[in-house]
Amino acid sequence: MASRLTSFVLIACLVIASSPVHVSSSVPLKKGLSWSFYENSCPKVESVIRKHLKKVFEEDIGQAAGLLRVHFHDCFVQGCDGSILLSGTANAPTEQDFTPNLSLRRTAFKIIDDLRELVDKKCGRVVSCADIATIAARDSVYLSGGPEYEVPLGRRDGLTSANENVTLENLPAPTENASQILTALAKKHFDATDVVALSGGHTIGLAHCAAFQNRLYPTQDPTMEKTFALDLKGVCPTTNSTNTTVNDIRSPNRFDNKYYVDLVHREGLFTSDQDLYEDSTTRDIVTSFAEDQELFFDKFVLAMTKMGQLSVLTGAKGEIRANCSVTNSNNPDFLASVVEEDLESYAELK
Ligand code: HEM
Ligand SMILES: *[C@@H]1O[C@H](CO)[C@@H](O)[C@H](O)[C@H]1NC(C)=O
Ligand SMILES: *[C@@H]1O[C@H](CO)[C@@H](O)[C@H](O)[C@H]1NC(C)=O
Ligand SMILES: *[C@@H]1O[C@H](CO)[C@@H](O)[C@H](O)[C@H]1NC(C)=O
Ligand SMILES: *[C@@H]1O[C@H](CO)[C@@H](O)[C@H](O)[C@H]1NC(C)=O
Ligand SMILES: *[C@@H]1O[C@H](CO)[C@@H](O)[C@H](O)[C@H]1NC(C)=O
Ligand SMILES: *[C@@H]1O[C@H](CO)[C@@H](O)[C@H](O)[C@H]1NC(C)=O
Repeated sequence: MASRLTSFVLIACLVIASSPVHVSSSVPLKKGLSWSFYENSCPKVESVIRKHLKKVFEEDIGQAAGLLRVHFHDCFVQGCDGSILLSGTANAPTEQDFTPNLSLRRTAFKIIDDLRELVDKKCGRVVSCADIATIAARDSVYLSGGPEYEVPLGRRDGLTSANENVTLENLPAPTENASQILTALAKKHFDATDVVALSGGHTIGLAHCAAFQNRLYPTQDPTMEKTFALDLKGVCPTTNSTNTTVNDIRSPNRFDNKYYVDLVHREGLFTSDQDLYEDSTTRDIVTSFAEDQELFFDKFVLAMTKMGQLSVLTGAKGEIRANCSVTNSNNPDFLASVVEEDLESYAELK
């Protein structure tokens, strides 16, 4: 009996451990979002995206970092409404154009539109670009070795892009210290644990010299580990270098808790990273994540679920874009297809 009970508990634990983390009980959902939004209209949406991204990442795992960051930038500026995906022109610049030194990978936008095309082929135009970006970010985490978790869906795509001031105001700078980052993110209702967990996104991906050379020149940041600083000066010999380096020196392509181990060893890249360990408000949280990867994963999923719901458009608001780079009213192909459909239904009526 006892052994049967033990094996039952064991099996139950295994089942729980291998199924995606579901945070529905701890994070209230914004009205209009749901855990089963496309159950009837596009039941395969998540498997179509997962399958394509597996192929993309087998070629280049760096694309996972690009996709994760796009979702973060989308959500922080004007909400997770796909506005970051809109591409601008010289006369009408968009969010994409206002972050020159925060360079998002152009390939990430292409991948999202490729996903949109695959999903559209399967289901028609029912899944928003904002939801595709959300699922792609989740899969980037999971396929890089991070936690698997469910994301609530039902976002709609925004009709406008944010202006330059709004964009810069909402994206924290890597040169900011922990107290500045905490203050900025508290405005979006993130607490200290959320801030430390979200910064763990830097366990993958790259950064340009411009983002961290404030710690090398004109004077070297005394908190930075000396050999690490020397190596970084090799990568960025002058302040005009366009070189890049990895965010997490211990496991640059793996989504794990090594980023926090870096911070404990004073090998964090940005001021905004390293100061999370220097500041007494966040130091113990950093240490706890460095010691316990499962704890980091749990808190990361919670914070991402919050982030993924920032100012979302739902219900009848916004639209479902036919091309993630352009709103439907600015999309000549879409407008032409609508006219064609109207003519067809007119012909049917007759
Ligand atoms: C807390 C405030 C944050 C600041 C100041 C910040 C700043 C930056 C900067 C400056 C870069 C380097 C860009 C470049 O030089 O090319 C970067 C990269 C990155 N960030 Fe953040 N970030 C923050 C939060 C986040 C969050 C919340 C996530 C996701 C959960 C995230 C995910 C990433 C990823 C994955 C990269 C690598 C991108 C790539 O390789 O293309 N960051 N971040
Ligand atoms: C942005 O802010 C600057 C100064 O704070 C102001 O002069 C400018 O008009 C603002 N631009 C927009 C588009 O709001
Ligand atoms: C953080 O930076 C701000 C602005 O530079 C500064 O006023 C503040 O004293 C700094 N805080 C800490 C704890 O270093
Ligand atoms: C990014 O660009 C802005 C405006 O062009 C500038 O004020 C800021 O110092 C730059 N930040 C970095 C890290 O290069
Ligand atoms: C780029 O980095 C390499 C070392 O990784 C260094 O040798 C080279 O001088 C750097 N180039 C520039 C333009 O900064
Ligand atoms: C970068 O700056 C160095 C001197 O600081 C100069 O020799 C070099 O030509 C500059 N490179 C570029 C691409 O501007
Ligand atoms: C989507 O729109 C962009 C920008 O207008 C355009 O460059 C791209 O070719 C379009 N993609 C498709 C698949 O039509």
